[in-house]
Amino acid sequence: MIARLEPVPIGALTPADAERCAQLEGQLFDGDDPWPAAAFNRELASAHNHYVGARTDGMLVGYAGISRLGRKPPFEYEVHTIGVDPAYQGRGIGRQLLDELLHFADGGVVYLEVRTDNEAAISLYRSMGFTQVGLRRRYYRVSGADAYTMRRVGARPHKWVGAPPSGGAPPPGCGGAL
Ligand SMILES: CC(C)(COP(=O)(O)OP(=O)(O)OC[C@H]1O[C@@H](n2cnc3c(N)ncnc32)[C@H](O)[C@@H]1OP(=O)(O)O)[C@@H](O)C(=O)NCCC(=O)NCCS
Repeated sequence: MIARLEPVPIGALTPADAERCAQLEGQLFDGDDPWPAAAFNRELASAHNHYVGARTDGMLVGYAGISRLGRKPPFEYEVHTIGVDPAYQGRGIGRQLLDELLHFADGGVVYLEVRTDNEAAISLYRSMGFTQVGLRRRYYRVSGADAYTMRRVGARPHKWVGAPPSGGAPPPGCGGAL
């Protein structure tokens, strides 16, 4: 059994973290279009995005980002990425990061894509109230792996209109191509 550690401080992710994020992406999403530093810089430059990082002893050990969609409320949100340094996984950091993103979403509906074989991430998302609402074939361009679309309907009253997003160019979902 893995010992739980004290909560790790979560704070803003900044352009100074982009290289470290790209390094972690290379470890975490090897073979699935890991984002380069430039992709993180673009994400961080968007006013609609919210990125956070987990640090321990001054080192970035986790990162996560979410995007607010649309121009008018009620807003919907999309988790763009989340990752924890393999050496620090299983200690509650991923849950802390996701909790921070959901706090930003403030009860709005949140979507994400996750590889269908990513049991750890799917288990985390389910435990935070996400349910599977779609399947996207070959969503991950390099590996050709399929993705589930998962959705979390928050506490805020929201009227769902139409079907969940599918088809067309994939949005920059969790771990997917930008
Ligand atoms: C998914 C990820 C972010 C989880 O981060 P983490 O810090 O290890 O997760 P936590 O320790 O906070 O665990 C939270 C929950 O995730 C699930 N989980 C974590 N690791 C797991 C594993 N190896 N197997 C099954 N479930 C697991 C559990 O539900 C766990 O809750 P529990 O501890 O109460 O059982 C991490 O595994 C990761 O970086 N994976 C590679 C990148 C990735 O796949 N990102 C998601 C792309 S969509």
